[in-house]
Amino acid sequence: MSSVTQLIRYGVAFTDTWRQATDSSDLHLTPQRKPSWLETPWGGHYHGGNLFLDRPFPVRLTGTKYACGRGGCGACTVMVSKHDPVSRKIRHFSVTACLVPICSLYGAAVTTVEGVGSIKTRLHPVQERIAKSHGTQCGFCTPGMVMSMYTLLRNHPQPSEEQLMEALGGNLCRCTGYRPILESGRTFCAESSGCQQKGRGKCCLDQGENICTELFAKDEFQPLDPTQELIFPPELLRMAENPEKRTLTFHGERVTWISPGTLKDLLELKVKHPDAPLILGNTSLGPAKKSQGHFHPVLLSPARISELSMVSTTSEGLTIGAGCSLAQVKDILAGRVSELPEEKTQTYRALLKHLKRLAGQQIRNMASLGGHIMSRHCYSDLNPVLAVGNTALNLMSKEGTRQIPLDRDFLAGLASADLKPEEILESVYIPHSQRWEFVSAFRQAQCQQNALADVTAGMRVLFQEGTDTIEDLSLAYGGVGDATISAQKSCQQLLGRHWNEPMLDEACRLLLDEVSLPGGAPGGSVEFKRTLVVSFFFKFYLEVLQELKKPGKLLLPEGDRWSLHPESGGSVIGQATPEIKGSQGISRLPLQSVDSHQALQDPVGRPIMHLSGLKHATGEAIFCDDIPTVDKELFMALVTSTRAHAKIISVDLSKALELPGVVDVITAEDIPGTNGAEDDRLLAVDKVLCVGQIVCAVVAETEAQAKRAVEETKIAYEDLEPVIFTIEDAIKHSSFLCPEKKLEQGNVEKAFEEVDQIVEGEVHVGGQEHFYMETQRVLVIPKTEDKELDIYVSTQDPAHVQKTVSSTLDIPINRITCHVKRVGGGFGGKVGRPAVLGAIAAVGNWLPHSSCLLDREDDMLITGGRHPLFGKYKVGFMNSGRIRALDIECFINGGCTLDDSELVTEFLILKMENAYKIHNLRFRGRACMTNLPSNTAFRGFGFPQGTLVTESCITAVAAKCGPSVREKNMYKTVDKTIYKQAFNPEPLIRCWNELAEFNKKNYWRKRGLAVVPMKFSVGFAATSFHQAAALVHIYTDGSVLVTHGGNELGQGIHTKMLQVASRELKVPTSHMHICETSTATVPNTIATAASIGSDVNGRAVQNACQILLKRLEPIIKKNPEGTWEDWIEAAFEQRISLSATGYFRGYEAFMDWEKGEGDPFPYYVYGAASSEVEVDCLTGAHKVKKIRTDIVMDACCSLNPAIDIGQIEGSFTQGMGLYTTEEELKYSPEGVLYSRGPDDYKIPTITDVPEEFNVSLLPSSQTPLTIYSSKGLGESGMFLGSSVFFAIADAVATARRERDIAEDFTVRSPATPERVRMACADRFTEMSLSPPWAPPF
Ligand SMILES: Cc1cc2nc3c(=O)[nH]c(=O)nc-3n(C[C@H](O)[C@H](O)[C@H](O)COP(=O)(O)OP(=O)(O)OC[C@H]3O[C@@H](n4cnc5c(N)ncnc54)[C@H](O)[C@@H]3O)c2cc1C
Ligand code: FES
Ligand code: FES
Repeated sequence: MSSVTQLIRYGVAFTDTWRQATDSSDLHLTPQRKPSWLETPWGGHYHGGNLFLDRPFPVRLTGTKYACGRGGCGACTVMVSKHDPVSRKIRHFSVTACLVPICSLYGAAVTTVEGVGSIKTRLHPVQERIAKSHGTQCGFCTPGMVMSMYTLLRNHPQPSEEQLMEALGGNLCRCTGYRPILESGRTFCAESSGCQQKGRGKCCLDQGENICTELFAKDEFQPLDPTQELIFPPELLRMAENPEKRTLTFHGERVTWISPGTLKDLLELKVKHPDAPLILGNTSLGPAKKSQGHFHPVLLSPARISELSMVSTTSEGLTIGAGCSLAQVKDILAGRVSELPEEKTQTYRALLKHLKRLAGQQIRNMASLGGHIMSRHCYSDLNPVLAVGNTALNLMSKEGTRQIPLDRDFLAGLASADLKPEEILESVYIPHSQRWEFVSAFRQAQCQQNALADVTAGMRVLFQEGTDTIEDLSLAYGGVGDATISAQKSCQQLLGRHWNEPMLDEACRLLLDEVSLPGGAPGGSVEFKRTLVVSFFFKFYLEVLQELKKPGKLLLPEGDRWSLHPESGGSVIGQATPEIKGSQGISRLPLQSVDSHQALQDPVGRPIMHLSGLKHATGEAIFCDDIPTVDKELFMALVTSTRAHAKIISVDLSKALELPGVVDVITAEDIPGTNGAEDDRLLAVDKVLCVGQIVCAVVAETEAQAKRAVEETKIAYEDLEPVIFTIEDAIKHSSFLCPEKKLEQGNVEKAFEEVDQIVEGEVHVGGQEHFYMETQRVLVIPKTEDKELDIYVSTQDPAHVQKTVSSTLDIPINRITCHVKRVGGGFGGKVGRPAVLGAIAAVGNWLPHSSCLLDREDDMLITGGRHPLFGKYKVGFMNSGRIRALDIECFINGGCTLDDSELVTEFLILKMENAYKIHNLRFRGRACMTNLPSNTAFRGFGFPQGTLVTESCITAVAAKCGPSVREKNMYKTVDKTIYKQAFNPEPLIRCWNELAEFNKKNYWRKRGLAVVPMKFSVGFAATSFHQAAALVHIYTDGSVLVTHGGNELGQGIHTKMLQVASRELKVPTSHMHICETSTATVPNTIATAASIGSDVNGRAVQNACQILLKRLEPIIKKNPEGTWEDWIEAAFEQRISLSATGYFRGYEAFMDWEKGEGDPFPYYVYGAASSEVEVDCLTGAHKVKKIRTDIVMDACCSLNPAIDIGQIEGSFTQGMGLYTTEEELKYSPEGVLYSRGPDDYKIPTITDVPEEFNVSLLPSSQTPLTIYSSKGLGESGMFLGSSVFFAIADAVATARRERDIAEDFTVRSPATPERVRMACADRFTEMSLSPPWAPPF
């Protein structure tokens, strides 16, 4: 392949090359956004050791995905292979391509997902298994997952589950809930299980047998044959064996990259360029450049200098080269730990503990030890441990070498203790620990892995021999100040003290005094962090005490209050060092079975793999961003408001327009048609209502040019009053978007007078960011004739995009065609916003086309998310637990425009009663208008927030009357809802009983346990939304093309539609195809949302197929033995139309809000979930062990149980994120969004999902309303995630009971570690709150 050869000439082999571009302007490289070619040095010319960048080098591989650009999501994972000059072996390691400078790849081979395998040639077992195990939904994360797993297998063909978890810890998936991905990986592990149908012939995957309880057949997978893997390119091997010693220089437009070949040259260059940073992993420099704009004109790369990778050992300690990656450091330390006696390896063990959790595998592979130490990040996990471990830094310069301690002064960056500008860090010396010395490490973060710590610590104590008298003590903390802090004064004062409780008390007092935190830390984290400072010390105290108590060590006096009683210290220590486990269970509860009479070739009800599964896994699935670019295409970047509420005084575009490559700046005045609605403009006019509102858009020849021009656009504002951000402020200012919605039944006031008890409470539910892996993107291609436009867009509602573009450009709808091939996750966030982007991008009608792609930062800033909610409840009940009266008032934060806020309010009011029959009931809801970006549709549409209020209220009653309260108050018989719609709760009772029965048979550790029921209404509360159309063509070769109005968002709608068509036409799915969703083939579509996409479109496809079959009937009758192809040929001969439109004139639905009654939803989905968790009361970590979750869901007759279970697991995990890890988006006091990427917004990672996760579909359930009696399951699982929340609340309540604290506490979602820790109030939280640091209440 010419591209490979060409690249090899310059020392890099790209195995099948890769797709992404580099910004040659500053050598900050892969994967650059939109352009699907590689603009690399390789297109330049190479002369005398200097490589000049001057033209792009097209590669056009699109498998590697871009989702964050900060190393935080793993979507861009590729494998790098390098010859290691020290071990003389080839090292394969995964990296996040978005942080890899291409010049750093000199001498390396890069394998992208395309190089692993392909549908066209040969699938790799990793690709085959992830797809067939149903590990892909939208598929945007899949290439990254494949590459992480592939790299693991290159190094460990039969990995352990722990290695598998570590390898995948840096890859995020927003769709699947990770269970199937992990399951696919486990098939490579020695101990994994397979399909239970094995041994009885073929598995369900072959569609040849009745359903089995497993969803895939392991034994049918092709085996992994490590001998068949791609070899390291011989050219590179030859190069490595005869290394180039000359300095290589790469010149970019703004940056020069210098890569010396010898240490001597490096030291000389450091004298010449004292300000130039050494670039190793680029995991500090890269993110700083992106988020803080740090810029370095010269970069020195020591990657080729083997001296920086040397490792040496002595009897006193270990010296590790500064250039070693953190992954290598981990291996080196593990080696020493296995060789040396335990007492010598205390520091190494502590470092290892952190190294397992620091970032994800890819970052650990890239980041260097030297880079980590020198970055001196305040959150550094390793520096506190290295500091307490008496580490020394070996420095080198042209003048010679010297050693400095890695101590408090160095970490604080004091010039006297720092490197001189011409010095480099050569290596790091870590001494062995000694007898009577104990070292430990602690960290608390939002997630177990891949999350920066809130607080991190290293602790060391040395005792006088044979005693518990402290001879030396070192405590260092990260995350509590601008740098790693060493508590030197406290430690000094504790010397000579015994390791006992008075010392503990004194230590805590001293620590809180010395480790002072800046008062203004946002979100009340000050108290939390202060609590962690002392809680960590308490853990250390207990750990050491336990060691001292070991036989052969000290005998301590009896009766110590903090003895290792299992209820206190012992269990705390156990939780302090949790291992990342890899044992997620699979759906072992029974699945519904397909009728034994069903024809073998009929795929309905069988766990058919996602139609695009294999393409996702090979990177061949095309997303909007992957559409090949054309010469001279234009890029659009958005200028957004920096003020929350202000008048626009002036917009100065002059500087922006002068910049090279800038074509135009679009303002509201350029819009020929309508600029959105009066109160919801596409482009701001006169005033702005939130930070992030789009004011204008720059169009330029490259994305980088457009972005630079955005920075040069000057807007003058005059601030307006009031500025409202919170629901509380909105209520104070009566700032609402729409009138109150209310439902009432019975006589609430009277019932309150008659009850035994009344409880009142408040509930806060945070908002949620969609965090679809594929950010918003649109590509507009104007045609040369008749104002026609083609729009390729990632949306759930192409008809809405079409309509919006039409009104914006003032052209008829029929000139605009929107195409949606697939969407990389939507979750409601791609219903409304894509239309805005599409309309703005279409305004200029630029030829050949213009595209707009939002960076993760802008996506999070502009698009809005789930509505935060504040609810107040008053519940009246009898001592028996029977609830007689319930009054709930809710407010949601709608942001600055109406968007879907009124509908969300309606839905949450309609759905809030959940599964409970309460005779006297009042629900009120209102959407607040605030100066934040407009919140919008999000999976569940208000249900997950509203129902949390109801469940909190039920939990409060259960706390008084016992756990049977839920069951006592549930609907039991055919009844009417609060809005008087009749329904039968029989499936709900069955789900509940089935779960209870299952739980009875299983042992619970009774930590925090919660069971929640669910009644979820499916569909839109409007008749016109319940319609769908389809178009089915049969071609003369018998192949069938199906088109329908639903969009493939990852939920498998296309797979299900082919299952429907296959059953109806009695033709295998292999004869069928779905190309895309297009407004030209199926017009006037409804948004794919509200869980009914498959339902209504399935009916339309069914209708079209039935029409066709009816036409074919006479031909089939005449020739019953004929084949499908014979019949089609005959039909064509007889001039019978082989194309049909199908239509579903859907459910009637209405709601009369005046009367408070209606028939708003076609049907309900019922379910129940139970979760058990363990909470670490000292840190608030509940991620330590989400021991188990069981779900029973009434799917009736699932069209595809694998897909439906995937939807349940995925939405459950998203719900668990909403209620536990996804801390509310953080804003500055001026309304500027802080949370702009995966580093500061934490969706669940693979280590956060329940260790045992069982999902069951209720057997033998039927509904006459829907296609083949199936149900839509897209959203309902979301709320079941609250079972984890209530299990945490249960554990906290137990902790509070033990501490004799009033059990009542305000429920606040998400239950973050911070909230949990502070709710488990104890002496340490008390200490942390004491003056002068106590925050005002
Ligand atoms: C997604 C992500 C997650 C992360 N999570 C964590 C986490 O959980 N915990 C944590 O502690 N850290 C975390 N980090 C930070 C990471 O550990 C550091 O960024 C990394 O160790 C820096 O190493 P590097 O080789 O990439 O440094 P580079 O970015 O290459 O360089 C950083 C600095 O070090 C200097 N430098 C490098 N080597 C030398 C040398 N030999 N002599 C003199 N100066 C030198 C350079 O001049 C430069 O200024 C995370 C980073 C990312 C991107
Ligand atoms: S895009 Fe590279 S890690 Fe997210
Ligand atoms: S399948 Fe993982 S993000 Fe969609």
